[in-house]
Amino acid sequence: MSLDPLPIDPSLVPTRQLASGARMPAIGLGTFGSDSVSGETIAEAVLDAGRLGYRHFDCAAVYSNEHLIGPSFKKLIGDGIKREELWITSKLWNNKHAEQDVIPTFHQSLKDLQLDYLDLYLIHWPFPNFHPPGCDVNFHDPNAKPYIHENFMRTWRQLEKLVDEGLVRHIGTSNMTIPKLELVLRDARIRPACNEMELHPHFQQPALFDYVREQGIEAIGYCPLGSPGRPERDRTPEDTSPTEDPVILAIAKAHDVHPAEICLKWAVQRGQTPIPFSAKRRNYLANLRAVVEDPLTPAEMEAIQKLDRNCRLIKGQVFCWKDNQSWEDLWDVNGVITPA
Ligand SMILES: NC(=O)c1ccc[n+]([C@@H]2O[C@H](COP(=O)([O-])OP(=O)(O)OC[C@H]3O[C@@H](n4cnc5c(N)ncnc54)[C@H](OP(=O)(O)O)[C@@H]3O)[C@@H](O)[C@H]2O)c1
Repeated sequence: MSLDPLPIDPSLVPTRQLASGARMPAIGLGTFGSDSVSGETIAEAVLDAGRLGYRHFDCAAVYSNEHLIGPSFKKLIGDGIKREELWITSKLWNNKHAEQDVIPTFHQSLKDLQLDYLDLYLIHWPFPNFHPPGCDVNFHDPNAKPYIHENFMRTWRQLEKLVDEGLVRHIGTSNMTIPKLELVLRDARIRPACNEMELHPHFQQPALFDYVREQGIEAIGYCPLGSPGRPERDRTPEDTSPTEDPVILAIAKAHDVHPAEICLKWAVQRGQTPIPFSAKRRNYLANLRAVVEDPLTPAEMEAIQKLDRNCRLIKGQVFCWKDNQSWEDLWDVNGVITPA
């Protein structure tokens, strides 16, 4: 008798229909190991998660594991999963925004991932800068730059070329704000299909979430569980944890599941696409199952909506472009792009 758990039928997993008509599975597996889980372990989790029913994977060059994950995709496709059933995202890192760097960097990700096209390619952050892997939160790149729209659009034009060449099906943004997106939407020839943003019950970003949806852009939610394993550099004393919230705990008890699963049910039912990370079979399987069975009631959805604390966990301090600058400058909190 096999002890392997039964896979979840991917056709039961909710999908989002994008402006292009393509369908993206409404939950994906994150692949950032928060500097503590090895690339090899993550690659094994990707393979196993694919065999258990995951079809959407959120990758990025800066996670330094695409070359390890590529063989997992190859095996999944070798197992008989059709390439078009998979949704694979990668992202352009901050030190590769220069026009001449974009296409070679993209090709490196494509090669590492052992694919011949990507479903989604994102500009990871709108700020060009460099910082060494695992650096301290106080690290400051003296050459870091603010958002300069003309430069961002030069990078974007390269992404548009990748779509023209059929190498990328959709392009998108990440860590954006409404004023920045307004400019991109004004000037883009190919509109962003998705915007990846931090989203969990303690950080619901209602204005940005509503804005992107009104614009026909899909909201992909990172840190959907409040990133309990995030690196030390991404922790501050004010941070709160949605999986420890008494309301979430009570709903979890009523459904007899882990609070993480309540965060994911809420995310999918609200209309965002969470990309939880886990390298533990028990957890990534539970996360996928959470979104195909036992939905939250309208009253539970409303109770969670009231938990928003505007608690941003990934503040991006290392991307500030001036010494002694507040991280809030990265997020245009006054509704206009923070001047250089
Ligand atoms: N675009 C961006 O700038 C950006 C920024 C951050 C993250 N991301 C993406 O978003 C993904 C998710 O974010 P994240 O990894 O920071 O945070 P997260 O998904 O909110 O949390 C992941 C943590 O939760 C634990 N976990 C997962 N499922 C669980 C369950 N069912 N029960 C209990 N614990 C569970 C995992 O530990 P175990 O491994 O022990 O299960 C891991 O420590 C990343 O992997 C990355 O792909 C993108």
